[in-house]
Amino acid sequence: MKVLVTGGAGYIGSHTVVLLIEAGYEVLVFDNFCNASRESIRRVEKIINKPIEVVEGDIRNREDLRAVFEKHKIDAVIHFAGLKAVGESVELPLKYYDNNVNGSAVLCEVMAEYNCKSIIFSSSATVYGDPHTTPILENFPLFATNPYGRSKLMVEEILRDVYVSDNEWKIVLLRYFNPVGAHASGTIGEDPNGIPNNLMPFIAQTAVGKREYLSVFGDDYDTKDGTGVRDYIHVVDLAKGHLNALERLENFSEVMTVNLGAGKGYSVLEMVTAFEKASGKKVPYKIASRRAGDIATCFADPSYAKELLGWEATLGIDEMCRDGWHWQSQNPSGYNI
Ligand code: NAD
Ligand code: UD1
Repeated sequence: MKVLVTGGAGYIGSHTVVLLIEAGYEVLVFDNFCNASRESIRRVEKIINKPIEVVEGDIRNREDLRAVFEKHKIDAVIHFAGLKAVGESVELPLKYYDNNVNGSAVLCEVMAEYNCKSIIFSSSATVYGDPHTTPILENFPLFATNPYGRSKLMVEEILRDVYVSDNEWKIVLLRYFNPVGAHASGTIGEDPNGIPNNLMPFIAQTAVGKREYLSVFGDDYDTKDGTGVRDYIHVVDLAKGHLNALERLENFSEVMTVNLGAGKGYSVLEMVTAFEKASGKKVPYKIASRRAGDIATCFADPSYAKELLGWEATLGIDEMCRDGWHWQSQNPSGYNI
């Protein structure tokens, strides 16, 4: 079975490519490298000890995609390609709608031309907005608070419409909670551009001495210690979820919407403590004001993933921090070595 992985050079994509190849799938990575380094591909090749097929191209470009489908018989697509910076999406909404929404529509159009109708899409817990209660179930109301989130919601809707128009499609919408950590080898991991927006890479860069201190965005939320609570999920667990979804797709034709989270909520300060324990380093922090658009608490009810896909998270907060630290300490400048 040959799987096209759009965005396969990125953080979650690269971890998924390793598992796919280890599980015996043929893989073709399609990426325009707008937020990834070629070094990540070399590192994946190092882990699996063989070359991988990579095509540099843009999902918005029909000809780039057609060239792939002409040359290869693709059985399924795992669609990671997209832009993900919430703040940037507020500044540049059209860039996000073009890349994430238009790009996904063009991808589906070309897939249909070549009769490839199986797709797994990277959605996000952000589609739940500020949920009225936790844990979050898949049937909770959907609401976007920024253009990035709206782009995810729009693509979900587009894919549902595609299925209604043609029931041969097999579609899985995976709503990720907060992916963190790295491959246990420390060879690949998250390499954000510039100053990290997300908590874990910021903590890791502080522990390694690249940042002076962490700003904790608010300590007056209605949570266990006043700081924001999230459902952190090890990126390797998350990657495994895609393999389960792929297996499931082979036998079913429908649209499946599934939360991929660990189902536990940890506060910012709990993450700091866990990271200090795993790294043996101090993570200095200062309490700062709340970040606009943040919510107090977000964590999944992952029981549907278990029921439908036979998937559940197996790696806990200690493994997330251990592997995140392993990657960060071995690669203090990420892929820029
Ligand atoms: P990432 O930026 O590391 O990976 C995305 C990859 O897509 C990059 O390699 C980038 O170069 C590529 N890409 C972007 N636009 C493209 C285009 N037009 N054509 C071809 N390639 C393109 O991000 P990630 O963290 O690996 O996230 C993967 C997916 O999961 C994204 O769609 C993201 O929105 C979604 N997601 C991520 C998180 C998270 O916290 N990391 C949470 C929820 C959902
Ligand atoms: C953010 C995005 C969300 C996206 C997700 C995964 C925003 C508002 N939300 O979610 O849309 O799906 O990333 O990419 O950007 N924190 C600090 N200091 C920091 C960074 C974060 O205290 O320097 C806190 C936050 O306030 C939050 C928690 O850490 O309570 C996690 O933050 P983050 O890693 O950015 O993830 P989300 O806010 O859940």
